[in-house]
Amino acid sequence: MRDEFTDPGVTGNTEETVEAGLRPRALDEFVGQRELKEHLSIVLEAARQRGQSVDHLLFAGPPGLGKTTLAGIVAAEMGSHLHVTSGPALERAGDLAAILTKLEDGDVLFVDEIHRLSRAVEEILYPAMEDFQLDIVVGKGPAASSIRLTMPPFTLVGATTRTGMITGPLRDRFGLVARLDYYDDDELQQIVVRAAGILDVVIDDEGAWEIARRSRGTPRIANRLLRRVRDFAEVRHDGSITSAIAREGLKLFGVDDLGLDKVDRAILSAMCDQFNGGPVGLSTVAISVGEQPDTVEDVYEPFLIQQGMIARTPRGRVAMPAAYRHLGLTPPSSAPGQPGLFDG
Ligand SMILES: Nc1ncnc2c1ncn2[C@@H]1O[C@H](COP(=O)(O)OP(=O)(O)OP(=O)(O)O)[C@@H](O)[C@H]1O
Ligand SMILES: [Mg+2]
Repeated sequence: MRDEFTDPGVTGNTEETVEAGLRPRALDEFVGQRELKEHLSIVLEAARQRGQSVDHLLFAGPPGLGKTTLAGIVAAEMGSHLHVTSGPALERAGDLAAILTKLEDGDVLFVDEIHRLSRAVEEILYPAMEDFQLDIVVGKGPAASSIRLTMPPFTLVGATTRTGMITGPLRDRFGLVARLDYYDDDELQQIVVRAAGILDVVIDDEGAWEIARRSRGTPRIANRLLRRVRDFAEVRHDGSITSAIAREGLKLFGVDDLGLDKVDRAILSAMCDQFNGGPVGLSTVAISVGEQPDTVEDVYEPFLIQQGMIARTPRGRVAMPAAYRHLGLTPPSSAPGQPGLFDG
């Protein structure tokens, strides 16, 4: 378990520590997601007024949209300690029990990738979430007995990139389930300007705009592109970022006009060229671009789907006309095996 906010677990100026440094710490600094912010501020304020711990919260949405950031904000806004762990890190029930017994009144426990909790661990979590009760089994075999501990009230903040994979009973135990949406270009521009301020980078509004509109709706990508353009501006120019420098730098790093990178384009061209537009299975696509199926599904696909370039069908992924057009190809009049898919 580690606290990424105060102890990034790595020293030096790695991308990870930079990312942690760019995280907004207060709800007011968090750009966009207006509705979610409004709901959250009411929930936090109500808990403050009652002097109680905040209800359990679940944040869902594609990577890099601010789930971890929000967990940190909840703890900071409530003036409580944040404990960070993740679904895959909690292998056995005892791993979770060890963390739960350390929690103090009002603490926030952040469980990232909560859809990857094992059954046994989930079962420890239910009574803990619902009644702040912890069932611990002591001993083994016929001599084993279970003791029930009462724990101080705490707030569980779960994050998931896959809402569909959260079991019903777990989902039902959250007081607020909030979905994060992709950010619009104006919001991303604000995020770029804010991050540039923190990183001490001189950037004008047009430069920030060029980066924002290629960030695939994702703050993490906006911050990453900003850092690459900064590198480019420092090495090839005087360090300040204008729209021309942003365009030149992004082109150099292989980011195209829509913000797609090499892997995105490889996915599209595999589907359009190699597999004749599909339908093609996820793992086949993943193998042909040299990525893990999970990575393709969680990181790359959501934006390509949102852009209407690919679609998921029961028989596999299909390339849509927008994908062909983006690659400079002519879309076929109908997809193979999918007569009429592109009609109308
Ligand atoms: N609303 C926002 N305003 C400003 N910066 C943001 C916002 N949301 C995210 N960021 C920035 O984007 C980066 C990624 O956010 P974060 O780590 O919270 O995403 P995540 O949803 O937890 O991603 P993952 O699913 O990969 O864990 C952070 O460094 C943060 O600086
Ligand atoms: Mg995260």
